[in-house]
Amino acid sequence: QPPNSQMEESCVLKRTDCRAKGGAPGFKVAILGAAGGIGQPLAMLMKMNPLVSVLHLYDVVNAPGVTADISHMDTGAVVRGFLGQPQLESALIGMDLVIIPAGVPRKPGMTRDDLFNINAGIVRTLCEGVAKCCPNAIVNLISNPVNSTVPIAAEVFKKAGTYDPKRLLGVTMLDVVRANTFVAEVLGLDPREVDVPVVGGHAGVTILPLLSQAKPPSSFTPEETEYLTKRIQDGGTEAKAGAGSATLSMAYAAVKFADACLRGLRGDAGVVECAFVASEVTELPFFATKVRLGRRGAEEVYQLGPLNEYERVGLQKAKKELAESIQKGISFIRK
Ligand code: NAI
Repeated sequence: QPPNSQMEESCVLKRTDCRAKGGAPGFKVAILGAAGGIGQPLAMLMKMNPLVSVLHLYDVVNAPGVTADISHMDTGAVVRGFLGQPQLESALIGMDLVIIPAGVPRKPGMTRDDLFNINAGIVRTLCEGVAKCCPNAIVNLISNPVNSTVPIAAEVFKKAGTYDPKRLLGVTMLDVVRANTFVAEVLGLDPREVDVPVVGGHAGVTILPLLSQAKPPSSFTPEETEYLTKRIQDGGTEAKAGAGSATLSMAYAAVKFADACLRGLRGDAGVVECAFVASEVTELPFFATKVRLGRRGAEEVYQLGPLNEYERVGLQKAKKELAESIQKGISFIRK
């Protein structure tokens, strides 16, 4: 059953029409997994984003209720809900940006393989929908393990003949957000003044903060470097004290990243953020570094820049684990 009654449907159409007549600029954004721990605050924050004109909320549970709740906010974006697989295509048609936090978070007692198999299947199905209904959309992939789900999505798009490496971005922004916050604490600064590139991937040792390139330029003692690197890598365990995973800071980070993608789509100059993308920066096919976001997605992938000895050692460890995770994702589709 469509979540909206006839009357509500007609109101949504009038609102859409009114926005169009007013020449309100904006992009069409879908969130897949919108009723989840990340999905709900993410949906709320995207409803507040002035760059969004239409917001589609899709989930296999609770999408109508979440949509009704969010739709009462008196901000510009028109919100529509979509429930279950039969409505996936309607949720995706015409979208400029698709944000995917669908899946299950790692719960205590769950092995990485359990998590992998469930989320890999979910990401495959959702990306098949993207390939069919909005092949030119930018995709922001949040579902873990990002180090494998991005290669999975790439394989799905290649099979469908729609793969554009610039448009597929694994969201590693939470690592950057944490790095900025923790470094600011050590330096006694406002986190908004701090910018720390975080490269590699998005799990454990693959998360490599480049403290030597932090802005403002700062020097850290070996103890501070060790403390900060470990804290940034293990940030997921700290959030929710190990029970469940980060949802609120993740939603914040996802919106910060999605907003950067939308500003890039709008044609803003100089939009640069870290993301896990197809890359030639190392010998690995995917790697997170700073990228410049533009009308076609990640239009430029930046080199790593100079690393210190601590970071060079970290890079070797990161690449070893990353290579296995990438291969695992590719094999999931090719097997
Ligand atoms: P959650 O379990 O609270 O929410 C997931 C939502 O996805 C649920 O509403 C569920 O119904 C929905 N879902 C499940 N199968 C679906 C399908 N086939 N189609 C559409 N929706 C579907 O989990 P939470 O905490 O929101 O985490 C979501 C994902 O994000 C997890 O994989 C988690 O590991 C990952 N994550 C990623 C981070 C990152 O930095 N990239 C940080 C934190 C979590």
